[in-house]
Order: sequence, then C-alpha cells, then structure tokens
Amino acid sequence: MFILVNLKTYPCDPVAVAEAVRDVDDRTDARLAVAPQAAHIARVADTGVETWSQHVDPIDHGSNTGHTLAESVADAGAVGTLVNHSEQRLKLADVDGAVDAAQRADLETIVCANNPEQIGAAAALGPDAVAVEPPALIGTGTPVSQADPDVVEDAVDAARAVDSDVSVLCGAGISTGEDVVAAADLGADGVLLASGVAKADDPAAALEDLVEPL
Ligand code: G3P
Repeated sequence: MFILVNLKTYPCDPVAVAEAVRDVDDRTDARLAVAPQAAHIARVADTGVETWSQHVDPIDHGSNTGHTLAESVADAGAVGTLVNHSEQRLKLADVDGAVDAAQRADLETIVCANNPEQIGAAAALGPDAVAVEPPALIGTGTPVSQADPDVVEDAVDAARAVDSDVSVLCGAGISTGEDVVAAADLGADGVLLASGVAKADDPAAALEDLVEPL
C-alpha cells in the first residue's frame, strides 16, 4: 500500500512529520511519502523521505507569476505531484496540462477526483495513479473506506475500465490502520490522508497505527 501524507497548510512542523514518516517507512513494507507545502519541499526532501508536491500548474518556464512550475518542485526534491486535489481544482484541460507538465519534469502523478464518475476521465489523461476523495468526508475523521465503500469499489472499476495499469487510491477521513486495510480490501492500491497525521498530537504514533496491520 502507498500512504501519502498531505500536510495541506496545517500548522505542523513539516520536517518533524517528514522524519517520522521516513522512520516508519524504513520499518514497514508499505510505501510512505509526504506532500508538504511547496515552500517546504526542499527541507522535507532533505530528510530523505519520499517527497511529493501538492500541486503543479499547467505551465512551462516563462511569464507565470505566482504559479508552481513542475521543474521547480522536482529541483527542490519532489518525485511526484498531486493534480486537481479537491482543494485545488482545475478545469479538465488544465488537469491535462498539469499532468503533461509533471511528466515533462519526470514527476510521478496522482490525479484526484471527487467521485467515481470523474475517475474515468482522470485515468484517461494518463497519470500514474488516480485518487477518489469525496469532499464531504475530507477532514471529518469518517473514513471513506468504511463509510462509503461503494465509492472506492466504483472508482477502482472506473479506473481499470480505462487503464488496467493505473493505480487507484482513496482518501478522506482515513486515520487508522483499520481504515487502510478496509481500503486495500476494496481494491485500492493506496490512500491519501492529511488530518489524521498532520493534526495528531503525536504524528509518529498516528503513523505507527496506520501501518501496524499491514
Ligand atoms: O489529500 C488528502 C485529504 O484530502 C484527506 O484529508 O484530513 O480527510 O485525511 P483528511
């Protein structure tokens, strides 16, 4: 299972969380990674943890003030990027452009979608992975893998109907190892999660709990 911890703009210490993720990753067969804010990518990558960007824009080098260039996050140490997260949604043409930009910079890609109906379109853009995250469950602590299992199964079916090789992740409300196992049982290859670790009093303990049953 791939466990990607998205730090969003939560007021946690990105380096401390990154070190905890790195240490847990070293002790488990699961693949763990962190997606900090763009300004923290270099410091997080320096810990040795697998580091992802939360977003890249559908742009190239040039006149794009305030945008996030795929090559810049790769230079800072990111090896992959989310695209079209529910909190950073793009028009379909821009999702396509952002995937192209990420691939140009040799970044692995996960395209997010709100529901299984959008997952097929996301998979058709040729990312490495797609992720289904029902916005209503994000940040609630109510795990999609247990509260709405049909969403995960339908997303897996929709993605595989388009591309049998694309990985499928799910996210929203996931915070325990039991939630991760439920996601795996539904056919997911990984999970996206944020508040369960970034807002935890003890992120290292929260991570240990996530991987314990794997
Ligand atoms: O990217 C993961 C995220 O949107 C899920 O958030 O807080 O429900 O784990 P959370």
